[in-house]
Amino acid sequence: MARRIAAKISGVAGYVPPRVLTNADLEKMVDTSDEWIVTRTGIHERHIVDSGVAASHMGAEAARRLLAQKGVAPEEIDLIVVATVTPDMLFPATACLIQNELGAKRAWGFDLSAACSGFLYALTVGSQFVGAGTHRKALVIGSDVMTSIIDFSDRATCVLFGDGAGAVLIEPAESEAEGILDFHHDIDGSGGCNLFMPGGGSLHPPTHETVDKKMHYVHQDGPQVFKYAVRRMCEVSSMLLERNGLTGEDLALVVPHQANLRIIRAMQERLGIPDSKLMINIDRYGNTTAGTIPLGLRDAIQQGRLHRGDLVLLMAVGAGFTTGSILVRWA
Ligand code: ACO
Repeated sequence: MARRIAAKISGVAGYVPPRVLTNADLEKMVDTSDEWIVTRTGIHERHIVDSGVAASHMGAEAARRLLAQKGVAPEEIDLIVVATVTPDMLFPATACLIQNELGAKRAWGFDLSAACSGFLYALTVGSQFVGAGTHRKALVIGSDVMTSIIDFSDRATCVLFGDGAGAVLIEPAESEAEGILDFHHDIDGSGGCNLFMPGGGSLHPPTHETVDKKMHYVHQDGPQVFKYAVRRMCEVSSMLLERNGLTGEDLALVVPHQANLRIIRAMQERLGIPDSKLMINIDRYGNTTAGTIPLGLRDAIQQGRLHRGDLVLLMAVGAGFTTGSILVRWA
């Protein structure tokens, strides 16, 4: 049964830091090659922050660009939901830091942790408040400084990620036929051991030992994550289309989470999506975790690939495992 929310994405903006880390740069840091990285992941380069730049800074910059583009004053924002697994600090929430940085004095907000599905979870949550009629302008932000939790001596993870942020504005839709049409999210906690950062939380508070054991870095079983991501992205997307009486033919654009080009291609093949309907930008940014989907939407708009009335499918799988898919009639 489809869950209708009369809320729409009324604007999109993004930010990636100016510094670029190429595969050639990584060749000098670990035992890898441009050829391996490109053929196994599709990534050519990624953007990384300079020291001192945190998730709140990138998120606030994406939000500032969005507000300027829309001509919306910070004081008009009612709610700020931030998806991140790399908050500036465990507390206060990154949403509070961004609210302060923007001067969004009337807004309340909070952070949400769902790793690579984080932006989609935040989009659904933010849309609920607008759809319910209690809020008129919600900022949904995905921002991750993945380089702050990556071991740059581990070639299996350091080549995959980049830093980046995206922000969308959620406003009431004219009707239930446009904006966020439907969503599906689920989690499978049994997959938590496949992708995680063991140190720094209440289970293993930071000590010299946790640092020596590199527990504050991303640990993953890449092939397990790969298989789960392909299977669940396909299952969830098919189910969402089916229950809305739609097929892949009806879609104008698919914006998948950008974790690995081979994951995207496997999903594309199984769902039968032509290249013309598929958003890919992993080659330039790598996996920016909560940033990938809003950056994908931003790039699609800049490339003239997204128009009013288009049916768009967003999909992601991330650590947890978390899964998300959202169907949008672009308004
Ligand atoms: N350069 C050169 N060789 C490498 C590198 C590298 N950067 N990394 C790993 N290898 C080697 C391995 O050591 C291994 O060598 P061996 O056969 O001698 O042992 C070989 O390449 C194959 O390793 P696999 O792990 O089997 O390689 P695979 O083809 O599975 O690719 C990868 C690894 C890229 C990590 C892939 O499994 C993947 O992308 N998984 C998804 C992980 C992911 O995206 N996580 C992030 C967040 S979750 C999400 O967003 C869905």
